[in-house]
Order: sequence, then C-alpha cells, then structure tokens
Amino acid sequence: MVVANRVHYVWIVWTVVIAAYSCISVPCSMHQEKCSSYEIKDNESQCKDLELYIACMELFKGKCRGEISYHSVMSASKIEFKKRCDENLLRNNISEHSQSLTPSNRRSICPSLFDDKKEHKFCGLFGDPHLRTFDGRYQTCRIHGAWPVIDNPFFGIMVTNDAVLNSTTATAPTKLTVMLKAHKPECTQQKLYEAQGDIPLPSTFEDSTTSSGPSSLRTVSLSWRSNDNISETVIIRLSYISTIISVTRVGKYLSISAKLPDELAQTFNQEKNELCSSGCPASEQIDIKQVTISDLDRVLTLCHNSIGPTEHRLTDQYLDWCVFDMMTSHDEQFINASHAAYSDVLFFEPRSLFNRTVSIFEFNPASTDSACCTNRLNLFIISIVTLYNFL
Ligand SMILES: *[C@@H]1O[C@H](CO)[C@@H](O)[C@H](O)[C@H]1NC(C)=O
Ligand SMILES: *[C@@H]1O[C@H](CO)[C@@H](O)[C@H](O)[C@H]1NC(C)=O
Ligand SMILES: *[C@@H]1O[C@H](CO)[C@@H](O)[C@H](O)[C@H]1NC(C)=O
Ligand SMILES: *[C@@H]1O[C@H](CO)[C@@H](O)[C@H](O)[C@H]1NC(C)=O
Ligand SMILES: *[C@@H]1O[C@H](CO)[C@@H](O)[C@H](O)[C@H]1NC(C)=O
Ligand SMILES: *[C@@H]1O[C@H](CO)[C@@H](O)[C@H](O)[C@H]1NC(C)=O
Repeated sequence: MVVANRVHYVWIVWTVVIAAYSCISVPCSMHQEKCSSYEIKDNESQCKDLELYIACMELFKGKCRGEISYHSVMSASKIEFKKRCDENLLRNNISEHSQSLTPSNRRSICPSLFDDKKEHKFCGLFGDPHLRTFDGRYQTCRIHGAWPVIDNPFFGIMVTNDAVLNSTTATAPTKLTVMLKAHKPECTQQKLYEAQGDIPLPSTFEDSTTSSGPSSLRTVSLSWRSNDNISETVIIRLSYISTIISVTRVGKYLSISAKLPDELAQTFNQEKNELCSSGCPASEQIDIKQVTISDLDRVLTLCHNSIGPTEHRLTDQYLDWCVFDMMTSHDEQFINASHAAYSDVLFFEPRSLFNRTVSIFEFNPASTDSACCTNRLNLFIISIVTLYNFL
C-alpha cells in the first residue's frame, strides 16, 4: 500500500514536471501552475483533483496540439483516472451534468434557482453592433463607448464599442466584461471575465479559475475552444441560474450571446437601458436600409456563398447584417463574425429563425409594393379631405 502510494507520488511528480516542461514551449505556459496544482489526499479528493487537472488540460488541447509531451501527460492522466477513479465514477457518476448526487452526500449544495425546462430567453450582440433583444427585436446601433448589455442580481455584462478602422460610421464591440456577482458561498464568489478584441480570449476568469463549486456539481464553469484559425469561443455556464453565456472573438471583433430563464431576463432596471432588455435608445439606432450602397453585387455574393463552421449559410437578419457590415467596412472578417453569431442563434434559439435567404438589399418587391400602396393611400386620403373641404 505504502509502496503503491510512493509509486503514485513519483508518477504525479513526473507528470507535473512533464506538464511544466511541455507547457513552457506552448502558449498555455502561464496557466501551467493551475493545471498542475494537484495534491495527494484520500482516494476521493485525489480523483477530483485529477479530474480537475484533466479538465484544465483539455482547455489547451488546441494550443498544445503539436506537443508530444502534452499528449503523453494527457493519456497518462486519463489512464490513471480510469484505473483509480472508475469505481468512484460508477458510484458517484461524476459527469458534467450529473445531478445524481443526493444532497445528503454534501454538506452544502448550491440550490438551482431556476428550472432548466422552463422558458428561456436569448440575446445576442455582434458586428457593427447588431442586437437581438430578449423579446426578439433586431436592431443595428451606434452605441459608441461603454453600455450595459445585461444586469441582474446574479451577473452583469458590459460592452465597449469603438470605431472600426477605415470606416466613418461603423462601430464594433472591442471589449466585453462579464461579472458574476457573489451569491452564497456554495454557489459562487464574485468573478470577472474580460475579453478584448486585440488579444486572444483568456481561458480563465481574472482569478485564474475556470469553475466554482464541487467538481462533480459545478455551479460555474468556463470552457475555451478554438473554432478555426481566426476565431475562438468561451462558454460560461451558470448552472445555479440555468444560464449560458458565450463570448466569441473573430479576428479583432467580439460578440456575445446569452440564454437565461425568462423570469431572470425580466428582472432589469428600467433606468439603466440594458441593451438586451430595452434595446438601443431610438437615437442610437441605425436603419440599415439607408446605407450608401457600394459594391453590392460582390458583397452579396460573398455573404450568400459563405459557409459557416456549422455548414450553414446565412439567413434572415444575419444575412442582411453581413451585407451591411461589408458595405460599411469592407472588412471580410465581418463575414466570419456574422457566421459566429449565426452559429450561436442556431445553437441557442433556432426556432427564432425564419430561414429567409433573400437579403433586404436584393430585389425587394415587398418594400416597393408597400411604398406604392402608402402613396396611393395618401392620395386617397388627400382626395377625401379635399372633397370634404370642398363640400
Ligand atoms: C484507493 O483506490 C485504490 C484503487 O482503486 C484501492 O486499491 C485502495 O484501497 C483505495 N484506498 C482507499 C483508502 O480507499
Ligand atoms: C451517468 O449518468 C448519465 C446520465 O445521468 C448516464 O447516461 C451515464 O450512463 C451514467 N454513467 C455511469 C458510469 O453510470
Ligand atoms: C485601412 O486603410 C489603410 C490605408 O488606406 C490600409 O493600409 C489598411 O489595410 C486598411 N485596413 C483595413 C482593416 O481595411
Ligand atoms: C491560419 O492562418 C495562417 C496565417 O494567418 C495561414 O497561413 C494558414 O493557412 C491558416 N490556416 C488555416 C487552416 O486556415
Ligand atoms: C473565416 O475566416 C477563415 C480564415 O480567414 C476562412 O478560411 C473561412 O472560410 C472564414 N469562414 C467564413 C464562414 O467565412
Ligand atoms: C429554420 O431553420 C431552423 C434550423 O434548421 C429550424 O429550427 C427552424 O424551425 C426553421 N424555421 C422555419 C420557420 O422553418
């Protein structure tokens, strides 16, 4: 038994050394001490530490892809976990979404405050900023500077929009801050996540953690993934309030999506003008149809033919927005940004799409029709009024 523990200890030290060594040559080096904090205690906490370690290392899968030592550490850790902890796994069913632990197993468990199965609301912001509010309004806004996106008793999201290079009118999100407010010691302490357009997305909160709560029953968890060469996503799950927040960086542009319980979406402060609840103030809204048309054919082709990471083509407002952003900025990264936002909507709220494949900038019989009819109606009213005056 003692020998076995010794061997195990040596094995862990070896693993940590390899991990430290391997991570020095890869961009994840600064997170290395978090991944390797790993102590020998009783079997159960050992398994949890090992599980945390593996989960942490998983975050660097993309960055450490070419590192042989990274892979050997990962597979050794997984083998060790399987050997040592499989029994625990069967007993406790340690899995990310496991709810099978009975409360008596834990001294204090963060209660789930909202029902996962009840209605949820989706909100998203990206590009020049385009906004999809909780109640399904679509707006394009100026909103230069810092604005609250969501603010409720559990978390707040702020966005900062700056002018887009080489464009006189366009602005885009360049900084996003997600603040989790402290809520009961067993749920979460205050945590801050900050994303900036000009640097890669951090893969942890400001305090270098990626989660709160016991490993088998996380209340908060943050995961990072790389989508393709120029885009990456961080997903923040808040299980105690049945909420998912997703931050994506495409080139230098940021976008944010959030899905939260309907009841929570409605707890907003009228005075604060939170974008997801109130929308943009009327003075900040832009009518995208008023844009100066430039290079329309090429832009239409680009937006129509682009295929996103989920193999989808853009539809609805996401197609219009792609065309608009391309015409105002001529920066092709906005196509990628539209796709990133579209992927979010497909994931969070696919039923909200009408799958319209013709953009409003193309031949648009509906709008000319209504213009003609409004004119006719006006003429009709004028005639009636004239007739009335005459009589
Ligand atoms: C720890 O786990 C190992 C392997 O499953 C087992 O042989 C050992 O008895 C366990 N030790 C304790 C203290 O439970
Ligand atoms: C753990 O629970 C999930 C669903 O709660 C189930 O699908 C899975 O088979 C379980 N795993 C084990 C090892 O019991
Ligand atoms: C902005 O304009 C400058 C000079 O006209 C050009 O070199 C640069 O590539 C442009 N940047 C973008 C993002 O279009
Ligand atoms: C990734 O970006 C680099 C430089 O921007 C480029 O050379 C490379 O071909 C890209 N790879 C993929 C898979 O797009
Ligand atoms: C996004 O950008 C990459 C690299 O510039 C490109 O290869 C890819 O096709 C783009 N994706 C979309 C959906 O436009
Ligand atoms: C549009 O497509 C999405 C995803 O395929 C689907 O969930 C949704 O029901 C469709 N909407 C309509 C109106 O057909």
